[in-house]
Amino acid sequence: MAPQNLGRLRSFIIGMTGAVDRLADDEEALIDAARGHLAALISEDDWLGDAFAKPHPKYYQQYLLHCDPLERFSLVSFVWGPGQRTPIHDHGVWGLVGMLRGAEFSQAYSQRGQALEKGERRRLEPGDIEILRPSLGDIHAVSNAYEDRVSISIHLYGANIGAVRRRVFDPQTGAEKPFVSGYASNVVPNLWG
Ligand SMILES: [Fe+2]
Repeated sequence: MAPQNLGRLRSFIIGMTGAVDRLADDEEALIDAARGHLAALISEDDWLGDAFAKPHPKYYQQYLLHCDPLERFSLVSFVWGPGQRTPIHDHGVWGLVGMLRGAEFSQAYSQRGQALEKGERRRLEPGDIEILRPSLGDIHAVSNAYEDRVSISIHLYGANIGAVRRRVFDPQTGAEKPFVSGYASNVVPNLWG
């Protein structure tokens, strides 16, 4: 991989901090701005440090890259080992998923009474962005599209996502359980290093 271009991550965080300052009352406009900043961030795979790209043999990893001090947004690298997948879950806040390396599937679901109904299944390739908004239905399950290699997506959320009380769903019964994801590591990239 090319040398680590932290300037790209720094520019993203500066841009997003300005956007949440300016557009706090307009979610639509904020998501629009966020999409532009995320598109620039994932346009090149030259900035993510190895410590935040490391797969775990058993579990997909969620490395915090930055959390706004006022918890208005957070940025997380999701590292999918071969064949790894999430349970069916929601987010509770807006989110954008940008594909950086490899590919993933996002299988949408909607609630019909107690049960879950399958919706669209989308494949994300590097540079693609999926937008999740609770007001439009934000239940899905994500999986690595590859059984033999690591994939990495960069997720941007409208809160400190590791601390948000969310839900996971049983695929058979649709039964809900609360969960809080946390993060996989205790360090974040040194933007000024
Ligand atoms: Fe998700």
